[in-house]
Amino acid sequence: MTAVGIDAIEIWTGNLKLDLPGTFAPEKGEDPEKYTKGLGLNASSFPDSYEDIVTMGANASHRLMERKGLEPDGIGRIDVATESSFDNSKPVSTYVAGCLEGVFEGDFHHANKGERKFACIAGTQSLDDAYNWIRADRNRGRSALVIATDTALYARGDAGEATQGAGAVAMLISENPDLVELSTEQGYGSADETDFLKPNQQFPSVDGKRSVQVYLARMREALTDYESVAGDVHPDDIAFIPFHTPFPGMVRKAGLLGYRHITRDTTIEDDLADEIGRQPRREAFDDDEAFRDSVREYMDLLKGTDRYKAWYDATIDPTLTLSREVGNWYTGSVHIARVSALKNALEAGRDMAGETILVGSYGSGAQAEIHAETVQDGWTDEIEALNVDDQLADRYDLSWADYEEVHDVHNHEMDVDVEEFTTPDGEFVFDGWGRMGERKYRYVE
Ligand code: CAA
Repeated sequence: MTAVGIDAIEIWTGNLKLDLPGTFAPEKGEDPEKYTKGLGLNASSFPDSYEDIVTMGANASHRLMERKGLEPDGIGRIDVATESSFDNSKPVSTYVAGCLEGVFEGDFHHANKGERKFACIAGTQSLDDAYNWIRADRNRGRSALVIATDTALYARGDAGEATQGAGAVAMLISENPDLVELSTEQGYGSADETDFLKPNQQFPSVDGKRSVQVYLARMREALTDYESVAGDVHPDDIAFIPFHTPFPGMVRKAGLLGYRHITRDTTIEDDLADEIGRQPRREAFDDDEAFRDSVREYMDLLKGTDRYKAWYDATIDPTLTLSREVGNWYTGSVHIARVSALKNALEAGRDMAGETILVGSYGSGAQAEIHAETVQDGWTDEIEALNVDDQLADRYDLSWADYEEVHDVHNHEMDVDVEEFTTPDGEFVFDGWGRMGERKYRYVE
């Protein structure tokens, strides 16, 4: 069977940055370590006044198409995943295509365009759609462009404010990909949940603490479902596990839960038994509460073992490097976790070709999905081509007063005009409103 997967990937961060320990913590009267150690975040990316989900998505796609030498003819499908959409009818992908048609020869009239919604998991669902389109042999040799783009802003004062972020990830899905091949096996955990939603409102209604529990519950279901088709996952077979990363502290919890699951009934559990005992089994307890207490105790002990720490440092921690600097990008978040892991591997001089990574996506409302990916021979060229470090270093560092202004600029309920903080350079910018309320864009050389 021909391999299908991600051929190339590009990242575009919002051009502004909010320093969490330095700027946000003092204003909130909080210990900076709540953010750096607790949530695991150093900074959030923000969009400048001329940036939005279209500009960031189009800019990532532009870079990707230029780098891969692509013309519109080579792309048969454009899907945008976002939970920051501003139109209930016209999809963001049409705006992105319009932007790209301004800088490339040809057009995207032949391309099927759409917009995917299921909170943060929509980016992975769009990958799925592209994969299925190619597998069904409907692509006529062409690739799909998948764009995950969000301005993940919370209402001022919401507990989620510390986890905000803004950026886009563009991915090219093709046959014989250069970066990773996607597995046909998938696992799902999906349930009707009320943890995080935006009922026709810009900023989310969030039950933060519950959302953490829902994430873990759905992820556990997805893993069990994945194993029912792919066989048991063993820690030694997996190089990295990029998870959806609303903030790194969330992934710390998911990693621990996952490790307990995948080491059960293995020699690793036996090896650890002298130090921390064996994992509690439900049948040994009279009731659920006693079982849960015992699991909690085991997890606390497991977390402190050298074996677990070494696994976490090798398999999970490298997926979090970018997220720490940019915050939550909703639909793009799991995809920057994948890049982060591969970037760390490249910098460490590690040969990843043929290695397996397990990808854990999640969207509130709620659904988790797990699939495997096999790293392809071309991965080093793809990761080397990224300029994400430069982009992060070039962000304008917001003062508290700047931050308050910028949040207002992007608040749909407010009509605020501020000077831009950065000067656009070789990128698409928002250029005002059209006669039917449409957003207009132009390319700045
Ligand atoms: N030093 C070190 N650690 C500290 C600390 C300090 N001084 N102060 C606090 N901490 C730790 C806390 O112990 C806690 O860690 P644990 O959970 O491991 O105990 C962590 O820092 C966060 O502290 P709080 O729980 O007190 O933080 P909070 O209540 O202000 O906010 C939150 C946490 C509820 C998750 C909030 O950030 C939120 O609502 N976020 C938005 C929702 C979200 O991201 N949920 C994640 C799952 S849903 C999802 O994934 C979809 C999505 O993208 C939104």
